[in-house]
Amino acid sequence: MKKKASKTWWHTGTAVVLGTGLLAGCGGASGNSQGEGNSSGGGNGSSVVDYSHASGQIVFAASPVGNGNQNIIPILVQQFEKSHPDIKVQLVNQSTDTDTNRASLTTQIGGGSATPDVYMGDVVWPAQFAASGLAEPLSKVLPSSFWNRFSNGLVSGATYKGQVYAAPFFVDSSFLYYRKDLLDKAHLPVPTSWEQVQQESEQLQKQGLVKYGFVWQGASYEGLTCDFMEFLTDAGGKVLDSSGKAALDSPEANKALTFMKGLVDSGVSPKSEVTFQEPQAEDAFLQGSAAFLRNWSYAWNDSQNPSTSKVVGKVGVTVLPTFGGGGGYSYVGGWDLYVNPHTKNMAAALAFIDWMTGTEGQKILSQLEIPTNASVASDPSVQSKNPIYALASKTHYVSRPVQSSNYPQISQAIYTNVNAVLAGSESVADALKKAQQQIAQVQSSGGGL
Ligand code: GLC
Repeated sequence: MKKKASKTWWHTGTAVVLGTGLLAGCGGASGNSQGEGNSSGGGNGSSVVDYSHASGQIVFAASPVGNGNQNIIPILVQQFEKSHPDIKVQLVNQSTDTDTNRASLTTQIGGGSATPDVYMGDVVWPAQFAASGLAEPLSKVLPSSFWNRFSNGLVSGATYKGQVYAAPFFVDSSFLYYRKDLLDKAHLPVPTSWEQVQQESEQLQKQGLVKYGFVWQGASYEGLTCDFMEFLTDAGGKVLDSSGKAALDSPEANKALTFMKGLVDSGVSPKSEVTFQEPQAEDAFLQGSAAFLRNWSYAWNDSQNPSTSKVVGKVGVTVLPTFGGGGGYSYVGGWDLYVNPHTKNMAAALAFIDWMTGTEGQKILSQLEIPTNASVASDPSVQSKNPIYALASKTHYVSRPVQSSNYPQISQAIYTNVNAVLAGSESVADALKKAQQQIAQVQSSGGGL
């Protein structure tokens, strides 16, 4: 039996749990007890598939991970094909917008299509995909020993009603990226509070050193829920109270949203912030138009690549700030590998997932993202190559209430109303009331958490 503590290398911060849904590191279904310490096969007593002689073709649907030629997905596919000459993988590119990606897969697989055989899906999808029959329960077809490889807590995030529906692929953690050359020129410290980000941005803009201060994800989609919830948790607020009731209409939420609106109103963030997803925010920063960026793990590597970044050598990365100062909160983001229940080649699909979450695949992935494979994630030679590993252990993680199959509607209630405030079409107070009502409605219509 492996020691659990040693597997949770990235989760040393204080986890804040929103609602009863837990994503990583704090329990949920049952830690990663699915098979932990039991390597005798027999995933939940069902038909485990032998994939050791798999062959044929599979279709893999995945959004790019990494900017431009840094996209690591085709590289992984190529390496897999090299090590498995009998299996061919056709890669289908999905949207980088997690909601658009989800909608296309829901339509395709919900319509009965046998492809894609394997797809990369957000860590917030397992409950919805499981409840709608869009994902194969992998704990039925993989031996229970398979799950031992993952860092603690990740398997529980992919578990719904006692079955594991996806194999954790990588963990996304969010950070503050900053222009160290500009801070040096203006003799400013690396900010540790949000107030400092605002003030330093204004100063750098006034001195004509940069066009915008801070770019982040303000468009009406899942990414805005992440950004808002980080500010909200930091302000001491919650989406749901301890009894699971909507609790968004609070002074803390008001503080968080008023601050976000102030970023746009003051010009520290551009007016187009309301349309920014990850790629637009990252591009603004990499092109040299902004001093600070909130983005996920992969942005470090992207910032070091001269073919996509004009600021190579000028970038620093640190933990997200807080109100008042100190190490802040990051959402637990990331992506899993799912199997289409209608696949005609289950063995090849599983061989692919085994390799992608095994040592070889995860080592390649670790150049860009935080691996889910515990032995790779804790390997000093992997950790020393990227500053995000040291920062991840200083970050406080927050999970989304994703155990509800209605999580997408809850998130939508948050991001549409927050976006309306940023766009100036709704007041902070009205937006929070509306979001609260909409969440309560989702819950009363069967989406209770
Ligand atoms: C990243 C995260 C994912 C999150 C998404 C929001 O891709 O890994 O979990 O939902 O961003 O845009």
